[in-house]
Amino acid sequence: MKIDIIAGARPNFVKIAPIIAAIKQSNNLTFRLIHTGQHYDYNMSASFFDDLNIPEPDINLEVGSGSHAQQTAGIMLAYENLLLREKTDICLVVGDTNSALACAIVAKKMNIRVAHVEAGIRSFDVTMPEEINRILVDSIADYFYTTSEYANKNLMKSGISPEKIVFVGNTMIDTLLSHFTSFSAPPIYLDHHLSPQNYFVLTLHRPANVDDAFNLSNLLKTIISNSRSLPIVFPIHPRTARNFRFEIPENLILCEPLSYLSFNYLVKNAKAVITDSGGITEETTIMNVPCLSLRNNTERPETVELGTTELVGSSPQNIEYYINKVFDTTWKKSTIPTLWDGRASTRIIQHFEKLNSL
Ligand code: UD1
Repeated sequence: MKIDIIAGARPNFVKIAPIIAAIKQSNNLTFRLIHTGQHYDYNMSASFFDDLNIPEPDINLEVGSGSHAQQTAGIMLAYENLLLREKTDICLVVGDTNSALACAIVAKKMNIRVAHVEAGIRSFDVTMPEEINRILVDSIADYFYTTSEYANKNLMKSGISPEKIVFVGNTMIDTLLSHFTSFSAPPIYLDHHLSPQNYFVLTLHRPANVDDAFNLSNLLKTIISNSRSLPIVFPIHPRTARNFRFEIPENLILCEPLSYLSFNYLVKNAKAVITDSGGITEETTIMNVPCLSLRNNTERPETVELGTTELVGSSPQNIEYYINKVFDTTWKKSTIPTLWDGRASTRIIQHFEKLNSL
């Protein structure tokens, strides 16, 4: 059985790495790694291949940047061309990116089965492009690999039959656990004399927070004015860099996006992480690091209920309240969510083996 593994954007690379490692152990499964080219800078793409030992992609569709329609359509055209030349048995997509949506649609219309890793999670906020992508991919997928009971319930509520849902755990956590001992301090850690629990890590890339330069500046001002001069390491996403017009105060350490092993070294040792990413809230849950999510909702409620995440939103009062809480009280500790044990990818491959033997 041949499986196309699709990856295009930074979080996709983290999710596919352990799936590829597991599939390589199988005698019955072959795969083709397809990079859509959605992310293309060294820091956003190749550095993850290096850190996580992901093999060179077999094909790069080289779609690059563009509007959502341009990007999605570009990937669709290129992937359709590829499938017309050489078919596959299963198209495996991960997460909620435009790359996942584009390839799922193309494969399904060519009667190729679609497998969705991280299926069923929902923020119920359709102003987010990722939520639209999740709903659409799950409406046509054949196999649903899930990270939580919430995801299972969401899928069943939308009419997916339980035998198509495979609760496997979290492939992002497979990667985190298998690389934990390889995390290494980036030069900025040493250059700025950072020490454990003595700095914040900040990441921002959601359109609602960064696409308006005025909003972005206000958000940064609030964070900085409440940080009690502790250093704030801010690896800046290209989308955010475009709107960054801000006089840099002494304690804001601005840098390029970091590689996986460097970034997670910083997270592991941080006093707290302030972020609008979803994936990072899963990683801080496992590493037991306080996490302030600058969003009003989450598709990963287990990171709030069991993990270290608080939904802070973007109001200055809330940000002030929660940053003070980092300094003043004991932050909640996490309990590890069910099946986030480093074996999700093995379970996915075992399921493929079973399908192959039918
Ligand atoms: C995408 C995903 C999001 C994921 C995020 C992680 C979708 C809808 N969104 O959002 O789910 O959390 O990646 O980063 O798929 N750019 C560069 N260099 C790059 C990549 C991007 O300069 O290597 C710039 C481009 O100008 C682009 C902008 O960043 O227009 C945004 O990139 P894009 O892939 O459109 O969306 P992200 O905001 O990264």
